[in-house]
Amino acid sequence: MFKQLRQETSLYLSDFMSHSVLNELRKSWTMESPEKQASLAEQFLVASSADALDRVLEKPKKLEHGHLALPLFPFAKVLRMGPPQLAALAAGLLKAKLQEAQAEKLGLIGVEPAGGFLNLTFSDRALQQRLFGALVNEGERLGYSTRGQGKRIVIDYSSPNVAKPMHVGHLRATVIGQAIRNIAETQGYEVIGLNHLGDWGVQFGKLAWAYKEWGSQYDFKNKPFQSLFEIYVRFHEEAEKSPELEAKGSMVFKNLEDGDTAIAEIWKMFVDISLVEYQRLWDLLGVKHDLVRGESFYNSRLKVVEEMLEKKGLLEQSQGASVVNLGEEMPPCLIRKSDGASLYATRDLASAIYRKEDLKADLNLYVVGVDQSLHFKQVFKVLEKCGFEWAKDCHHIAFGMYRFKEGMKMSTRKGQVVFLEDVLNQAIERTAEVVAEKNPNLSAVERASIARDVGVGAVAFNDLLFDRVKNVEFDWDRILSFEGDSGPYVQYMYVRCASLIRKYGKEPKMTTDRTLSAPEERELVRVLMAYDDILETAFDGFKPNVLAQYLLEVCAVFSRFYHNNRILGEEASVEESRMALVRATKEILHQGLKHLSIRTPEFM
Ligand code: ARG
Repeated sequence: MFKQLRQETSLYLSDFMSHSVLNELRKSWTMESPEKQASLAEQFLVASSADALDRVLEKPKKLEHGHLALPLFPFAKVLRMGPPQLAALAAGLLKAKLQEAQAEKLGLIGVEPAGGFLNLTFSDRALQQRLFGALVNEGERLGYSTRGQGKRIVIDYSSPNVAKPMHVGHLRATVIGQAIRNIAETQGYEVIGLNHLGDWGVQFGKLAWAYKEWGSQYDFKNKPFQSLFEIYVRFHEEAEKSPELEAKGSMVFKNLEDGDTAIAEIWKMFVDISLVEYQRLWDLLGVKHDLVRGESFYNSRLKVVEEMLEKKGLLEQSQGASVVNLGEEMPPCLIRKSDGASLYATRDLASAIYRKEDLKADLNLYVVGVDQSLHFKQVFKVLEKCGFEWAKDCHHIAFGMYRFKEGMKMSTRKGQVVFLEDVLNQAIERTAEVVAEKNPNLSAVERASIARDVGVGAVAFNDLLFDRVKNVEFDWDRILSFEGDSGPYVQYMYVRCASLIRKYGKEPKMTTDRTLSAPEERELVRVLMAYDDILETAFDGFKPNVLAQYLLEVCAVFSRFYHNNRILGEEASVEESRMALVRATKEILHQGLKHLSIRTPEFM
């Protein structure tokens, strides 16, 4: 696709610049000393290497400016020549070569100087060959790269807290994390998805105490998770009235940390109940982890961490607690509380070391809300102070919070927290209504399945559509709209393609022979070709929104193509060629959404 086109063009232009252009330039250098000439030529050749060209070749925003543009600034700088002047010279030379076999093979058909750029245009056939060739040959691995080959990424996402329902913040940690994971895989990385389950800490002492005290009053058999959350809430309510409960909870946690097996059994039950609950949501959202490594997993490793910090002279005592001081920039990192209990940060230190030493992570990513930025800064800083050179490979992939529109109706069971499950259920219900209206002939089973894919997809797409660091507004009308910048809109375009193919009655042949006649066809080819580049860019910034925005662009271009051109019923060769574009669009929408863990129903 596009990367291939750029690579081949770089090779071609490298040859062109270092021979044709350089030879022409040499003619004007005869006044210079031989040393000067040699040095100019050498610098010019460095700038002409295929690698250098591959890096600087640009993709013009508008098709009028061609498919690729070569900036001549790097060359002009060497020569102390005006870039437009050089562009004019190079364009003249290149035009004369367009008839040659090499240019023809590349598919280069036009070259225009524009300011300090050479704008290059390629033939429809050449572009379609690269696009359709990739589509047919690469299949489900369309647009994949081998950049990450041999490298391993450990990525921590979703990671909810046992006994508590996931809230919309976890939606982001889940959906963004899974998307980054999928996109990393397209770049050839081996990925280990880690669930850093919040299954340790003093709250488990409280919960175990509450369970022993009140457990029998709740229906743990039939509603285990709900009961668990209810005793959690009850404990906190009662502790407000009777603060001595806190101490009881802390004591039970201390016993748990010291290895009390009876409490450990209760704790284990809490974890199991919670995992069953979360699994339902993960299934719904298409989320998969490879390993559950809850905070408790690191218990046996905390001592080693402390000893290491001690040995390196980093551990200090402060009011009975152990801390690592981090200088002026940030508060000290708390390692152990005065009552001897370990902390979130201690467990994250042990976890980071585990990811590097045991899991052999080349990159260690944490998809967690921006509200934990300080925590990760501290943890990474401590690792750096320990002298771990790999601390630089640890990244907090932060995301902003949800903003709910004023007066929005959103059922919450308690306080300000909006539960993920409620959001998903509402999305599914609302979608079911729309689907029933739009398509009354569907069976109940079909409708339910479409409502699920579209409703859940809508919420996920909205989450992925914006720069992750920014806060997102939660607006049902926009999220569920079938026309706007929404998940349902993308799925709807997919369905449109699928339905065209059904009507066409056979798998479209990927013909490349026809010269495209409509501007929308060219625009569509161009945007579809960018797919591999988009995956790369999305990975580089850990930005799934790059992919989501791109899919909207594909839809917009496809929609113009669809509305302004006849497809079915056209003369056979035109019909065939347009159907090939439909198939390509369908495939890219499908795969793009798949990398965002969003499903594509065949009708809706
Ligand atoms: N359990 C935490 C929460 O729900 C997120 C854990 C993130 N990962 C980590 N390694 N600290 O806020």
